Amino acid sequence: MSIRLSNGKVIPMEMHKIKIVQKTTLSPAAARLAAMAAAGYNTFLLRTRDVFLDMLTDSGTNAMSDNQLAAMMVADDAYAGSESFYKLADSVKDIFGYQHTLPVHQGRAAEHLLAKVFVKPGDVIPMNYHFTTTRAHFELAGGKVLEIYTDEALKTESSVPFKGNIDLDKLHDVIHTYGAEKVSFVRMEATTNLIGGQPFSMANLRDVKNIASEHGIFLLLDASLISENAYFIKQREQGYENVLIKDIVLEMMSLADMCYLSGRKSCSARGGFIATNNKELFDRMAPWLPVYEGFFTYGGMSTKEVEAMAVGMREMVEFDVAGASAQFVKYFVDRLVESRIPAVTPPGGLACHVDAHKFLPGLQSLEYPAGALSAAVFLTSGIRTMERGTISTDRALDGTEMAADVELVRFAVPRRVYTMSHVEYAVDRVKWLYDHRDLIGGLKFTYEPPVLRFFLGKLEPKDNWGAKLVQAFQADFGPDC
Ligand code: F0G
Repeated sequence: MSIRLSNGKVIPMEMHKIKIVQKTTLSPAAARLAAMAAAGYNTFLLRTRDVFLDMLTDSGTNAMSDNQLAAMMVADDAYAGSESFYKLADSVKDIFGYQHTLPVHQGRAAEHLLAKVFVKPGDVIPMNYHFTTTRAHFELAGGKVLEIYTDEALKTESSVPFKGNIDLDKLHDVIHTYGAEKVSFVRMEATTNLIGGQPFSMANLRDVKNIASEHGIFLLLDASLISENAYFIKQREQGYENVLIKDIVLEMMSLADMCYLSGRKSCSARGGFIATNNKELFDRMAPWLPVYEGFFTYGGMSTKEVEAMAVGMREMVEFDVAGASAQFVKYFVDRLVESRIPAVTPPGGLACHVDAHKFLPGLQSLEYPAGALSAAVFLTSGIRTMERGTISTDRALDGTEMAADVELVRFAVPRRVYTMSHVEYAVDRVKWLYDHRDLIGGLKFTYEPPVLRFFLGKLEPKDNWGAKLVQAFQADFGPDC
């Protein structure tokens, strides 16, 4: 929830008390420089002991509730028939309205099963936007991902409330061009992660569903960030102001044929599942579950996580939980925009995103501006962010480098983890960096893995700019900062 102060300022308010904490440390810039070099200028390869605020991701890093932790204590560790699974299946029935649940160890495992069963070589998969693992799995199965977003989607500074919408004309075109039989399914990602956590509207979801079903194509929802998308529908879509998040989620699910999710995000647990009311679709996937994931009642997850997810699903549709991250993201984005720093607007779910192309206009895509800015943020603040740009975009099949549509640095705001002073600190250091942006140069790969290169790739700064940036920082803040 947000609170209006007596001076008129609106601030996000934590609707929880902190009962357990984890110590964090802020190491000096010289140590951060050494850590960054050892990590090959890739924030994924940092050790958390060198990180002050971990804003890499909101995946599996949210604070769990007392009720989630309590549920973990009563997990039923059985290979088959675990009661914990039936609690999850009941949550899926109540919160999503789906009767059939296939548990998997995390979101990408769901994508793997979906790709294995529904994506044939030569197929196309239209979607509002891809996620890294989604594209990898669908392409490995021989499919082609078609992003059919609206013209607004890639404009980082915008006031359009639903930049995650599918362009309906493009959907018609895809079906017309390739034929319905070549379309594996239509995928809608609830708050499109890679373009700034931007939601789609209920109206768009309904239209997409109607077009897909007219052609006998099923609609698949990536529900990893479903509660945030529902929160934005409540905030931004006419007619939903007074509808409960719970009812918005149920309506969204009623429009899809099947959903899958990473339980590491909105659910504040770890794990995932696929769910549907369509028994025929379910039966096609079911035989593969024990091959890749585990038996039907744990799917590769620990039963403790199954319990935590069962509770997390019920909690994520409470207004204060659905908005816990989104309200801090909005505050963060508004503070940056006040200082004319190019952040993605409107604020989305999961993270505050900074447009690295606009921040570092002198750098070309293949100098990896988002990777460079992400490294620079760590050097000057100890905050770990994530590159979401060209480094996160794998080469085309013929080996050519592909510039990402947008070059973003993601400051994830895991749910209920960070406080206002953490956000203020981040804003302050980003402002300092913006004033010293001329010191930030490009990166080049020293090791480039063949797939999902952003995870394990190593890079180095051109002309040793990292050390020069740290020198300038020390000159302003002192040698021990
Ligand atoms: N779909 C979306 C929209 C995601 O954001 C993610 C993961 C996945 C699928 C894959 O799920 O990680 O459980 O296998 N996003 C994480 C992130 C990794 O940092 O944004 P997973």
